[in-house]
Amino acid sequence: MASSAASSSTANKKIISAVPANTTYELPWVEKYRPLVLDDIVGNTETVERLKIIAKDGNMPHVIISGMPGIGKTTSILCLARALLGDAYKEAVLELNASDERGIDVVRNRIKGFAQKKVTLPAGRQKIIILDEADSMTPGAQQALRRTMEIYSSTTRFAFACNQSNKIIEPLQSRCAILRYSRLTEGQVTKRLMEIMQAENVDFSPDGLAALIFTAEGDMRQAINNLQSTVAGFGFVSSDNVFKVVDTPHPIAVQTMIKACYEGKIDVALEKLEELWAKGYSAVDIISTMFRVTKTVDTLSEHSKLEFIREIGFTHMRILEGVSTLLQLRGCVARLCKINMSPKLFTPGK
Ligand SMILES: Nc1ncnc2c1ncn2[C@@H]1O[C@H](COP(=O)(O)OP(=O)(O)OP(=O)(O)O)[C@@H](O)[C@H]1O
Ligand SMILES: [Mg+2]
Repeated sequence: MASSAASSSTANKKIISAVPANTTYELPWVEKYRPLVLDDIVGNTETVERLKIIAKDGNMPHVIISGMPGIGKTTSILCLARALLGDAYKEAVLELNASDERGIDVVRNRIKGFAQKKVTLPAGRQKIIILDEADSMTPGAQQALRRTMEIYSSTTRFAFACNQSNKIIEPLQSRCAILRYSRLTEGQVTKRLMEIMQAENVDFSPDGLAALIFTAEGDMRQAINNLQSTVAGFGFVSSDNVFKVVDTPHPIAVQTMIKACYEGKIDVALEKLEELWAKGYSAVDIISTMFRVTKTVDTLSEHSKLEFIREIGFTHMRILEGVSTLLQLRGCVARLCKINMSPKLFTPGK
């Protein structure tokens, strides 16, 4: 594993890191490599381009950025505010997130107070109020924002980030430009991880990188965190180490089970399933890995794949409803085995 002294001297070569190079303490890599400028944000190119245009023109509308966790929403808003306000950032930005009290009183006092405050800004710029994780604000507090947003719009603009835009009340949505962020693609996560691994001198194998991508499911924060945990725990990024850290069933084991189902070998499939269960993985972990593996197995015919996903989907639903027993999974495996047996049993036309 790279020592922290060595890593801090090699870091920042390719990507801008948020901390000075001579820092001796080890920051979480998600913070160390949080992009500082819009150009460094990976993925969602069209949306980020729109933000860049806003940063250049300076006339920022109220915005809502929505999307799943760890894909760059908060980072984008911070980069945008920094690009718009430069040195005035400290004075002209009010940032409130779910860890701050954001009831009606705060909207009435703090937010309104900040909106009324006079700040000297570059020409054509406004103060920015960032309400991160806005889906956790109560509807009452959101209602209280309506007039404030209008009255002070000439001097203050709002930026909301949230996971579910439907938790933002309609009147606020209608006042904002809504930007949706989607999951990052495998290529995008790979590229960023490669940059970080290079900067931190990480030893890795290609299957280790693939495992990080597989487990992150398009969530950059998770990918970076898993990378750092694997390096901290093992010093080497291999697929085995990654799956130990992430603690989800190894896709190779699940793949063997799915293949056995495909070939109708129920004994082998059940044996594999029981091995996984014995390792202590929960039914949800097993069934979701089964789904993700099935999606990517290329030896399965299109028809079988669809049927497999259908069966796995129904079992997933039952598990989420509360029936998370081994028997439930065994039933699923049995039905999967049956899918490929049926053409032999029921010849067409009979
Ligand atoms: N698009 C991206 N490009 C580069 N780094 C990213 C990107 N998305 C996330 N990251 C990394 O993940 C970390 C978390 O990102 P961020 O705080 O923006 O997530 P978020 O979308 O706001 O998630 P949440 O919904 O959980 O608040 C960042 O510090 C950065 O290191
Ligand atoms: Mg966020």
